[in-house]
Amino acid sequence: MQSLPIQNSGFFDIARESSDISFEEFSEKYLTPEIPVIIEGVGNDWPARERWSEEYLLKQLAQAPTVSTASLWYWGERDVLPEDFTTPDFVNQCLDSPAMFPRKLHTRIWIHKMYNVSSWHYDANFTNVFNVQVKGKKEWFLISPDTPLDCYPYTTFAIMDGKKEDVLEGKRHTQFFLNEGDMVYIPPVWFHKVIACDKENININWLFTKRKTTVSSVELKRDLERYVLHNYLSNHRFKFVRGIVALFNRYTPVFIQIKWNDEEMTKTPYTVSGLDMFMRVLKENFMLLKTLMHVNKIKPYMKSISRPKKLDKIKL
Ligand SMILES: [Fe+2]
Repeated sequence: MQSLPIQNSGFFDIARESSDISFEEFSEKYLTPEIPVIIEGVGNDWPARERWSEEYLLKQLAQAPTVSTASLWYWGERDVLPEDFTTPDFVNQCLDSPAMFPRKLHTRIWIHKMYNVSSWHYDANFTNVFNVQVKGKKEWFLISPDTPLDCYPYTTFAIMDGKKEDVLEGKRHTQFFLNEGDMVYIPPVWFHKVIACDKENININWLFTKRKTTVSSVELKRDLERYVLHNYLSNHRFKFVRGIVALFNRYTPVFIQIKWNDEEMTKTPYTVSGLDMFMRVLKENFMLLKTLMHVNKIKPYMKSISRPKKLDKIKL
C-alpha cells in the first residue's frame, strides 16, 4: 500500500488496497480520516461485468431509471439485481453502521457514453461514495476540501470560468484511472471531475452519510454554513422569509437548492456563529459577481447537469 504524502498542496498518489480489506482497517485508514482510496478487484468476479449493458439494465430496471442529458442512471435499494454482483462485506458494514444516518436508497447505477465529463463539484449532504467501475474506464481528478475550488453561490458546483489549465495549481489533488472491477472511495466534500474513457461505461455507487465527523476542512466549514443559513431562513419567525425560501426551493434547479436529506445535520468540529453566517452571505454574493462576469459560459454547463427525468417521459 502507498502512504499519502503529508504536503498540503500539490499532487499526491491515491492509496490502493485489495478487496479483502476489513471494515476495521478501512475505517482506521480511510473512513475516519476521510482519505480517498482505490480498492482493487472489488468487482472482478461479478457476473455484472459480462451481463451489464445499457439494453440489459434498461430492461431490468424499467421501474425506476431516470435519464439526464448526460447519462442514464438508476437510484434504488441496495439489493437491486442481487444475482449480478455482491456488495463487499466492508461496504455492507459501513452502510449498516449505527455511525451512519439510515438511508433507504443507497445505490445508484450510472451509464455514461465515451467522453462524458462530470464537471468539478462535490456531492452535497456530506455524502460519502463508494464507486465501482463495472464496465469501461474512467479518469478521475480529486481535490482536497483543504484547498477547495470557488463554487457558484450557495452550490456545490465549481465555477467554470474557462481557466481549465490552472484549476489544479496550488491544490492538493490526485488523478487516476479507475479500471474495470476497481472501486474508489470518495470522502465527503472532496471535489471531483470524472471523464468516461470507454465506449460503454457503467458504474455502481453506494452512498452514505456519517452522523459525526472529526475532520476539519475549509470546504466542510463552508458547507456547514450553507446549511445553517438555510435552516435559519427556513424556520424564520417571519412568514414571508419562510415563503421566499419555499419559493426558491420550488422553482430553482435541484442542484442549487440547499436541502439536508437526513434527520439532522452531521456533527462537525465547527460551531457556526452569527458572524460566520454574515461572512458566508458576503462571500457567496461575491461569487455571484464572479459568476455574472462569465454568464455566457454557464448555459452549456447547466445543460450537462440538468435535472434527470423519468424514463417514461423521455423518448430514448
Ligand atoms: Fe459527484
